[in-house]
Amino acid sequence: MPKSKSRPSPSPDLQRPPAEVLYADELARLAQDDTAAKPPGWRLSLPAVRAFILGDGDRDISKKFVGAPSLVERAMVTLATNRGLMLVGEPGTAKSLLSELLAAAISGRSTLTIQGGASLIEDHIKYSWNYALLVAEGPTEKALVPAPLYTAMKEGAIVRFEEITRCPLEVQDALLSVLSDRQLAVAELEQMLFAKEGFNLIATANTRDRGVHEMSAALKRRLNFETIFPINDFQVELNLVKREATRLLERSGVHTRPPDEILEILVTTFRDLRTGVTTQGHATERLSSVLSTAEAVSVAHLLGVRSHYLTEGKVSAADLVECLAGVAAKDDAEDLKRLRAYLERRVPKKKGAHWTALYEARHRLGT
Ligand SMILES: Nc1ncnc2c1ncn2[C@@H]1O[C@H](COP(=O)(O)OP(=O)(O)O)[C@@H](O)[C@H]1O
Ligand SMILES: [Mg+2]
Repeated sequence: MPKSKSRPSPSPDLQRPPAEVLYADELARLAQDDTAAKPPGWRLSLPAVRAFILGDGDRDISKKFVGAPSLVERAMVTLATNRGLMLVGEPGTAKSLLSELLAAAISGRSTLTIQGGASLIEDHIKYSWNYALLVAEGPTEKALVPAPLYTAMKEGAIVRFEEITRCPLEVQDALLSVLSDRQLAVAELEQMLFAKEGFNLIATANTRDRGVHEMSAALKRRLNFETIFPINDFQVELNLVKREATRLLERSGVHTRPPDEILEILVTTFRDLRTGVTTQGHATERLSSVLSTAEAVSVAHLLGVRSHYLTEGKVSAADLVECLAGVAAKDDAEDLKRLRAYLERRVPKKKGAHWTALYEARHRLGT
């Protein structure tokens, strides 16, 4: 199949189309060739969902999530049972991405999403009322305004619950009967909504947020937990950063790409400061900000945009220093000091012209 045909062309003015739009063509091709058995209510079989997420070169299906195939398999199997799936891990490890891809492949829609937060109430997950109609007609189905959980149950789809531990416990508890009995009481209508086949829940939580609202033990028992770890292989992380930055820059209409050597420095710096040990084996103080792969991607994106609009396409190590400050000093002024110490003491020990240039640009970090 020619390249131009195998890549969908979502509306160019959308900043970030959902996975089912972005990869509509891949999903359609996978569905067409899918002869394996599917769990009830699923659009694709498990092998096809796995291929969608992890890629399949032979069928021109792109790799979207970098991670162990066994993790993806366990996640799919959980979703084919009557237990929900909980993805936990550090911020920026692609928990949201994986849940979006699973929902897009299994249900054909990833947008039934609840965003967890302190102000979330039950109405935001179940349903609320159109008050004008409610006053005029009393509680009727017409006056009911469905929220994502309701819609997912009614239509047999995956509902995503992002950052669930940031919600008050009573909201988390509202999920209990839905997950165990697969039904939701609509008391005002004296009705029960029974979940259609295909309904299930994927929740995500950042381990760093855990303290905010400990999750209720009862809810934990209804979910299977999967932990997503940062990518531990340098080359794999570098390739991902390069690929994602290229994709983002393409979408921003930017034609310059940060050179490979700069991306190598970027990913190395992130890994050194994340782990607290440089590639030379020296200790360096870890930053308290999260230096995730997702952050590395956004720095690479920044570098490309910056060079396109400001420096006639040239990307230097000095630009990298400028971009690093905004990432590192986010929630802690101490981090800026730690970053400065890294540039002063550890970077000179590294070999290569770009590392020297990085060292020489260290004053750009500001004070
Ligand atoms: N293992 C990975 N596979 C694919 N992309 C990844 C991975 N880790 C990080 N990323 C990058 O980070 C972004 C995902 O961040 P996100 O899903 O929002 O993370 P989280 O929800 O864990 O905070 C992706 O869009 C991708 O650019
Ligand atoms: Mg997330």
